[in-house]
Amino acid sequence: MSLSQVKLINLPKILDERGNLSFLEQNNHIPFSIRRAYWIYDVPGGEARGGHSYKKNQELIIALSGSFDLIIKDKNDSTLTYTLNRSYYGLYIPSGIWRHMENFSTNSLAFVLASTDYDENDYERDYNQFLLGDN
Ligand code: TYD
Repeated sequence: MSLSQVKLINLPKILDERGNLSFLEQNNHIPFSIRRAYWIYDVPGGEARGGHSYKKNQELIIALSGSFDLIIKDKNDSTLTYTLNRSYYGLYIPSGIWRHMENFSTNSLAFVLASTDYDENDYERDYNQFLLGDN
């Protein structure tokens, strides 16, 4: 999988004097069926999360509040950094892409939609193994 498969997805934004509303539908705004959601919050300053790739799982990551950086890498060791800081777009990350998150702002909330159930066997947590892997 190459970094060109990673996509910043603009989500619908309904502007209203009462406030804004965004939404997404599986297989419509995002290219997979949602199986699971999780969220990361109360991250202490300077901490990093998510140094791994998945063999099968695909994800969409949204900064519902605050901001953080997503650093993604492919097996050619190419690197891209995305700063997420708006609740109306998300980063689609297919399987086979290494990623970690850092630079969390105070009160940031990372919301993640995932295509599979949690399965520790789906993780690759060793970067050198990731570079050698065939997915
Ligand atoms: P992990 O995915 O390693 O966190 P991160 O990538 O953000 O650093 O998960 C941390 C712990 O939480 C790990 O023990 C597994 C557990 N966990 C679940 O039980 N279910 C889940 O859906 C997720 C994402 C994690």
